[in-house]
Amino acid sequence: MDLRQSGMGKAPAYSLDGGRSLHRWLRDMRQHHPVQREPLTRVWTLYRYRDIIQATADPATFSSELWRYLPGDRGDDALTAGNLTAMDPPRHRLVRDLVSRSFTARAVGALRPRIAAIAAELIGAVADRGEMDVVADLSDPLPVLVIGELLGLPMADRELLSDWARRLLSFDKGDLTDEVVRKRVADTQQELLDYLRAHCRRRRTKPQDDLISRLIQAEVDGQRLTEDEVVNFANLLLLAGHVTTTLLLANIVLTLDEHPAAAAEARADRGLIPGLIEETLRYRPVIVSNMRVTTRAVTVGTEQLPAGQFVSLSFISGNRDEQYFTDPDRFDIHRDARKHLGFGHGIHYCLGAPLARLELGIALEAMFDRFSRIEVTGAPVDYYDTPGVAGPRSLRIAFRHH
Ligand code: HEM
Repeated sequence: MDLRQSGMGKAPAYSLDGGRSLHRWLRDMRQHHPVQREPLTRVWTLYRYRDIIQATADPATFSSELWRYLPGDRGDDALTAGNLTAMDPPRHRLVRDLVSRSFTARAVGALRPRIAAIAAELIGAVADRGEMDVVADLSDPLPVLVIGELLGLPMADRELLSDWARRLLSFDKGDLTDEVVRKRVADTQQELLDYLRAHCRRRRTKPQDDLISRLIQAEVDGQRLTEDEVVNFANLLLLAGHVTTTLLLANIVLTLDEHPAAAAEARADRGLIPGLIEETLRYRPVIVSNMRVTTRAVTVGTEQLPAGQFVSLSFISGNRDEQYFTDPDRFDIHRDARKHLGFGHGIHYCLGAPLARLELGIALEAMFDRFSRIEVTGAPVDYYDTPGVAGPRSLRIAFRHH
């Protein structure tokens, strides 16, 4: 059915009111138009949990290699090598096997003391002020520094790395159709790739105990990663592991501010923190949706999708599907929220999930330990209006010391 005929109109922007109007709209879509093609973009969207699982569980039909269907084949481009998110099996399986050993809960657990030290340092730097911007002062720098640690980049380069990440990933980088802006972003990306390549070459001749050295040495079925793949994978970690973690920590602080009873409970019983993180990934996910492309005709619900169709998976909608989550609009840190779609599902399920959980838990504990009262002060919250991403651009809080 055509959206304009149905009277459903366009989805309200998340930035309008932090998703409140959007969630009302999504509920209607799940009920009346669960598989819908947007007339202008011709992109299909799947709104129901069950249909999203169908797509993520079937990468042979729902491919992540979108570049195959876009103008200008970028398959052999040095930039796509090593980019797991844009790769289908069998290559995906091979690369994922090579890198996944370094991302188990046990492997990332070794980073705990360093993450705790970085979080304490960042919080310590603002503790005397009585107020801070959660994003600028804590949740933005933390993941960049942690990934730098993981990759074994020199501590002295911390500022450099933060600066590149900011320049590349800030969604405010301007109009990408503008030639000057595009060139600036491309130049920054090239600088970062050159830096990562130099680091890789150093580790090739003199391996250390870090991820880059392990990736250079790792071998599965007699296959190794190429240098381009190692460099681009390191780059991917900086892209995929940064803003996601930044915005999720901000979303946690925001959600706890709206639910003071849950905040008090988690503060009193730190064992509730893991459940709180999972529930926030369900209730307020950062990655709103992700794309696939159909490789063959397929039926989803009552709709027939031909081959070559772009399909958006609405994780934010699936997370509120009343068929799968009881009372889905309620934030409940005691529910078992682990089947949420906040980290995706299937073969592309977030590789960094154990690291993200660890970082978020440590940061939250550090805030609870240091501050006795936390209150969001900067209303109304300024949200990113980037499609596909949900979270605040900055989040001012006031706090008291213990
Ligand atoms: C709260 C923080 C995070 C969120 C919400 C998040 C979310 C996601 C989601 C939704 C996907 C699936 C994309 C898809 O299905 O197409 C994904 C994939 C991925 N994430 Fe995360 N992520 C987070 C943190 C991290 C961190 C810390 C890292 C690494 C340092 C990381 C690395 C990756 C990688 C490499 C993939 C691609 C996996 C594949 O395609 O096999 N993420 N993430």
